[in-house]
Amino acid sequence: MTTRQSGMLLVVLVLSLPGLIHSFKPLFNSNSFTHREITRTAVLQKTAEVCRDIAASKGLDFNLIIDNNLSAGKVQRACSSMDTFTSFVSTIKFETAIASMYLSNAAVDAIFLLSAAHHFDDETFQGGRDIITEGASVVKAHAKIENYFRGRLTLGQICHTLQDFYSHSNWVELGNKAPYSALIRPDQPLKNLAGQNTPTCRSCVGENCTNNILPDVLNQGLLTSGYFSIISSSKPTGKCSHGGFFDRTSRRDPVGGINKDTIDSSHGFRHNEAANLAIRATMELLEDVRLAAGDTNFMRLMGLSQSPVLCFVIDTTGSMSDDIDEAKRVSFEIIDRKRGTGQEPSGYILVPFNDPDYGPIVMTSNADVFKGQMNSLTAAGGGDIPEMALSGLQLALTAAPPFSEIFLFTDAPAKDAYLKNTIIALIESTKSEVTFMLTGSSAGRRRRRASQGVAPRVMSRSGAQLYQDLAEASGGQAIQVTKSELSLATSVIVDSSASAVVTVFQASRNPGRPDNFNFTVDGSLQNITAYITGDSPLTFSLTSSTGVSQTSSQSSGPLASVTTAGNLRRLSLNTDNETGLWQLSVSSNNPYLVKVTGQSSVNFIYNLVEEHEGAHGDFSVKEGRPLSGGNASILVTVTGSETVKVTEVTLFDNSGPTEVKGSLQSLGSSDFLVTFSGIPAGEFVLVLKGEDSSSTSRSTSSSFQRQASTQIKTSSISVTAQANNTNIEPGTTISIPFTVAATTDGVITDSATETFTVRVSNDRSYTSTSPSSVTTVAGSGGKANGTVTLTAPSSAASGTDVTLTIEAENAAATDINYVVLRFSVTAKVTDVNRPVCQVVTTSTCDSTSLLCSSSQWEFIANFTDGINGTGIESVTIRQGNGTLNMSTVVEAGGENITLVTYTASCCSPIVELTAVDSVGNVGICVGQARVLTTPASAVQTTSTGGYTLNISTILWLNVVFSVLLK
Ligand SMILES: *[C@@H]1O[C@H](CO)[C@@H](O)[C@H](O)[C@H]1NC(C)=O
Ligand SMILES: *[C@@H]1O[C@H](CO)[C@@H](O)[C@H](O)[C@H]1NC(C)=O
Ligand SMILES: *[C@@H]1O[C@H](CO)[C@@H](O)[C@H](O)[C@H]1NC(C)=O
Ligand SMILES: *[C@@H]1O[C@H](CO)[C@@H](O)[C@H](O)[C@H]1NC(C)=O
Repeated sequence: MTTRQSGMLLVVLVLSLPGLIHSFKPLFNSNSFTHREITRTAVLQKTAEVCRDIAASKGLDFNLIIDNNLSAGKVQRACSSMDTFTSFVSTIKFETAIASMYLSNAAVDAIFLLSAAHHFDDETFQGGRDIITEGASVVKAHAKIENYFRGRLTLGQICHTLQDFYSHSNWVELGNKAPYSALIRPDQPLKNLAGQNTPTCRSCVGENCTNNILPDVLNQGLLTSGYFSIISSSKPTGKCSHGGFFDRTSRRDPVGGINKDTIDSSHGFRHNEAANLAIRATMELLEDVRLAAGDTNFMRLMGLSQSPVLCFVIDTTGSMSDDIDEAKRVSFEIIDRKRGTGQEPSGYILVPFNDPDYGPIVMTSNADVFKGQMNSLTAAGGGDIPEMALSGLQLALTAAPPFSEIFLFTDAPAKDAYLKNTIIALIESTKSEVTFMLTGSSAGRRRRRASQGVAPRVMSRSGAQLYQDLAEASGGQAIQVTKSELSLATSVIVDSSASAVVTVFQASRNPGRPDNFNFTVDGSLQNITAYITGDSPLTFSLTSSTGVSQTSSQSSGPLASVTTAGNLRRLSLNTDNETGLWQLSVSSNNPYLVKVTGQSSVNFIYNLVEEHEGAHGDFSVKEGRPLSGGNASILVTVTGSETVKVTEVTLFDNSGPTEVKGSLQSLGSSDFLVTFSGIPAGEFVLVLKGEDSSSTSRSTSSSFQRQASTQIKTSSISVTAQANNTNIEPGTTISIPFTVAATTDGVITDSATETFTVRVSNDRSYTSTSPSSVTTVAGSGGKANGTVTLTAPSSAASGTDVTLTIEAENAAATDINYVVLRFSVTAKVTDVNRPVCQVVTTSTCDSTSLLCSSSQWEFIANFTDGINGTGIESVTIRQGNGTLNMSTVVEAGGENITLVTYTASCCSPIVELTAVDSVGNVGICVGQARVLTTPASAVQTTSTGGYTLNISTILWLNVVFSVLLK
């Protein structure tokens, strides 16, 4: 084989083995720190610090020791003890946020495997720093527009690069004990880099690389990093390599490497130091984001906000005015009840639709803005059916954070039913739940007149079925009621807005048949509610664990009180002391759905992950459906209890019923890797069972069960796509190559000749091109390739995100699969300078006065962002409890100056101000009241010329200088 051939072979090998990881291991490693642990630890510690600061500012106690042993539960409990209204603490949002950060961190190894800068390989310090600082601007832009989900994805990615610096460079070997701050400061020079022609390493002695960095490099403090390539062994003369099995450069002189990825790496003896610095560096980056975003938005970015968003998608056609009034009533009730508590919705989303219009979407964290928008909704026009319901739903699904619950109000079938598969794909990838409030009179039912005199429209069986299918795929419900009964049905919205709602059990029968359903009630569950949705005739009976029964003829009995509205029966259970196995028997031949929920801290989150083959074996997130007959791996995190023992995780298909048991591998704390093999074709839900040893007292049984809402469907089509970048500049186009293949038992059918329909959509209606179909041909190894392009308009605002879905359908239109790609539109940030401050005056506090509270001091300073800066957007008090006044003046040179006057009591003699410019650069100023000294020290005062040049003034000069020089 010629070298060229073997090179080619390697490229092919690399592309098919995206797991040749050369960083801290992304997710799992038994004895070394992974990116997952580094990120998690940094997030927990920084979040705890912010809570501590908030507690201190409110004069509250904060009793959490901030160390490497924090858990999401501990941090959230410590943080929420400040909020006395919180009755249930669910860490699900926090865990989900942390997982999305470490999973997007891990994805960098798959997406940017061959990009040196993303890993600080090959001495790409400027390139690596640019990735971090440009990414940090994107995170700040996302936080500013309250797009926390996307902010986390970008934050996870740049954390990867930042953390790799400590493993791949010689920063640790140079004796540094603190993070390299210049990596997050684009306005600072990167100093003391080893020149291109400066040799940095000598060969290791056998396997021993202890002393392979040249003494000159260490003595002069020159910064270098290891060269890495899996394709070529060439590197500049005398340079260090990364090292390890896959690094071909490390076999060439100087042999060996310097990476600290694991304790077994070339410089593994420094692994722990590198990992600890990576944690501190990540915290430093988080602090920078915190200062730019403010504490409230930072906490939301970290996922530490109890409550979900309130998300409504509403048909605004003429016949909908009663429904709109009811949507207003129920949402305003929720808002008013929760305002100011820890359960206040963290955001509000409203999408109106009719025909042909839908949107624009309203997204806000301000309840009053949402109320104003709800009030301005008017039902008008239309009357003809159908409407653009799915287009409206698509907007909501793409904008809402994952795990949201979305309520759609309509009385008409969907005109845009062709979006069904796309909507299901979105439901699967966001795990959001969709509940439909349908008030169109069904075909067979007697038509009623709405109070406004406009007749509700007719919803055919098939029209309602589409909504039922979507509800079922998402774990929601399709509730059909008359307009006059709607206010009874909206109790499901109130139920779901409670804190820490979990799904205990859910199943459906379509076609309907009588059946019995068992579910386990555990001691942690409260306010258990069962819902049965299905057309009459339908009867049921409920039996508790102690054998007490109640039938559907009793609206109020020993076990539950029942309300009925349209096709919905809501059972509010009295389960206070009856834990154990309950049974619900349903008798109906119409399709129906059964769902049991409750409030509990114990729950779980999960992510489908994909194993990378290859020596290092690791996982990254898989979006899209698992292959029928193939294997699947799911990363599960149990939340809410450190005493939970998971005994069983299964994929359950209730149409069979088919059950696939997973094999469990504990990954420490509450994380598990669950592996399923040979999953048959079907639609599954994930069911988790276990024992909770903390549930003591009253319970006879400590078993619990939880179920994921979203269905997991399998597919025989494999769709893969990889963008080589996740950012698009406004006005530019990116190309995304993709591959489609038919599979049998999880393996590509290489002899198949098949044509697949390709559908590509994006949620911003950006211009996009793609082939309408692709065909696998003989000799292509069963794979068909295509390319999608996506163009961001030049008017797109920085921080905008766009989700692209590439969907492939088989010729028989019986099967689809898809990939989801997420991009951020990011304009190049040109303002890298931090705001600077200059003190005008600092007034005096009289230390001879016995009562500091009787005197005030004043501090006046000028803030500027430089002539080319984006301008100061906010100045806030970071420390000190005085009052701030600001005014902006324009100087002769055209520069805006923000004049800040701070006044405080002399009991609070220190102030720290944070100035943030429009792109999130942060400048900090510290001021301290000068102290008018007692007569004894007044002698010293005269010696400095009658002026007290005290510590604070010196500190000030320092700050001004350092801010100016940075
Ligand atoms: C590696 O070499 C250094 C000296 O260069 C020596 O001190 C150390 O003990 C060696 N380590 C091993 C494991 O042989
Ligand atoms: C429900 O539980 C009963 C006994 O408790 C058992 O006999 C029955 O098989 C269970 N049904 C299902 C569907 O698991
Ligand atoms: C939930 O249960 C608590 C007591 O455990 C009760 O105070 C509260 O009112 C219940 N909430 C609802 C919505 O029923
Ligand atoms: C709880 O148990 C007590 C006695 O064990 C019983 O009297 C009471 O009715 C039970 N409560 C409910 C709601 O089942």
